Amino acid sequence: MSTTTLPPTMKALLQETKNGPLVPKSIPTPNPGPGSVVVKVLANLLQHQTPGILSGKAGFTYPTPMIPGGRAVGRIAATGPDTTCLSEGQLVLLEPFIRARDDADTWIFWGAMEGTSEGSKKLFADNWRYATFAEYVKAPLENTWALDEKRLCGELGYTIPELVQLSVDVVAYSGLKGIGLRPGERLIVTPATGLFSGAAVGVAVAMGASVLVTGRNERALQRLVDAHPKLVSSVLRTNDIEVDVKNLQKHGTVDAFLEFTPMGAEGSTHVRAAFGALKQHGRACIMGFGGGAMKDVEIPMMDIVFKSITVHGHAMYRGQDVKEMIKMAEAGVLRLGKERGFDSVTEFKMDDFERGFDWVGENHELGQMAVLVP
Ligand SMILES: NC(=O)c1ccc[n+]([C@@H]2O[C@H](COP(=O)([O-])OP(=O)(O)OC[C@H]3O[C@@H](n4cnc5c(N)ncnc54)[C@H](OP(=O)(O)O)[C@@H]3O)[C@@H](O)[C@H]2O)c1
Repeated sequence: MSTTTLPPTMKALLQETKNGPLVPKSIPTPNPGPGSVVVKVLANLLQHQTPGILSGKAGFTYPTPMIPGGRAVGRIAATGPDTTCLSEGQLVLLEPFIRARDDADTWIFWGAMEGTSEGSKKLFADNWRYATFAEYVKAPLENTWALDEKRLCGELGYTIPELVQLSVDVVAYSGLKGIGLRPGERLIVTPATGLFSGAAVGVAVAMGASVLVTGRNERALQRLVDAHPKLVSSVLRTNDIEVDVKNLQKHGTVDAFLEFTPMGAEGSTHVRAAFGALKQHGRACIMGFGGGAMKDVEIPMMDIVFKSITVHGHAMYRGQDVKEMIKMAEAGVLRLGKERGFDSVTEFKMDDFERGFDWVGENHELGQMAVLVP
């Protein structure tokens, strides 16, 4: 347990009432306990989906008061009695998928969703209501991952805000592991230019695949091609299934696809086209929460049956996935920032959070990223 004295109070953005506004507040700084550390937050991912979560439109539920966030990079400010390998000053990645220690099937999204069981609601309400939109955060040890700062920021030249991308990348990495993506395979990512779907492209390339990126936004697709000219090809979607299938197959045998459809894509045929383009015994990874995937788009049963396609649904990741992905980034195989086609990360101070959310609301095309800096 470290002996550093934390400041008695800290700034935080609190949602005090259900679906109410975020309010900047001064509140007591947390102390670490068994199974946790206190992290000084350096950069928080600003997600364009967060206002929809806070207003209740996304359908996520949680108790208030609550502090949002969950995807961040910071430094260990105080260790707990059972911290064994993290020490003060260590740069760490924080990610939001918290599982109950006595039941790995009980989970919450820190700073966003209490889960669906009595156990998960208790886990959220009684333990992890306060996520990372604050100067300091008490974080579970299991969600706090050491980053090799000398390697990532020194030798590889990434900025701390750029490292926040790792908390997004791990979702795609786990999904691609879930379908057993192998080096040399050809993968469709559909759509390919969202926050999570765009991340899947760089991750798949790092895993040794060649990637077909599909979507409607030619400029955003081109960014992905420019970042990986020999490994990524773009296929502009027409929504005419026959045409889209043919265009996807033009590049050669398609081994697998990963879909990350957002809400609002009901009626789109991109998932159907991806099924159509798959080879015999192909694999499909379904990860989007949007209607375009399963809810309102017909699944082509004959394609699935006659081609013996394996359909794999996938939510979030395991701790081992975070560890492996950080190793890939530290090795320099998984690239970040400009090497992935991203602009410099735009930073907003915590007091300026409303402007930050407005900015990400308007600027979340692939390659644009913003962080909240306490
Ligand atoms: N399974 C999991 O563990 C997990 C984890 C995180 C997120 N998710 C879910 O994954 C989904 C995708 O997340 P995201 O952050 O990538 O979302 P996002 O940033 O909002 O997605 C934008 C992408 O969706 C495409 N799109 C938007 N409207 C469309 C439409 N009407 N028809 C077809 N494509 C459309 C866009 O394509 P254009 O370029 O063509 O506009 C763009 O590529 C969300 O539902 C999210 O909740 C799942």
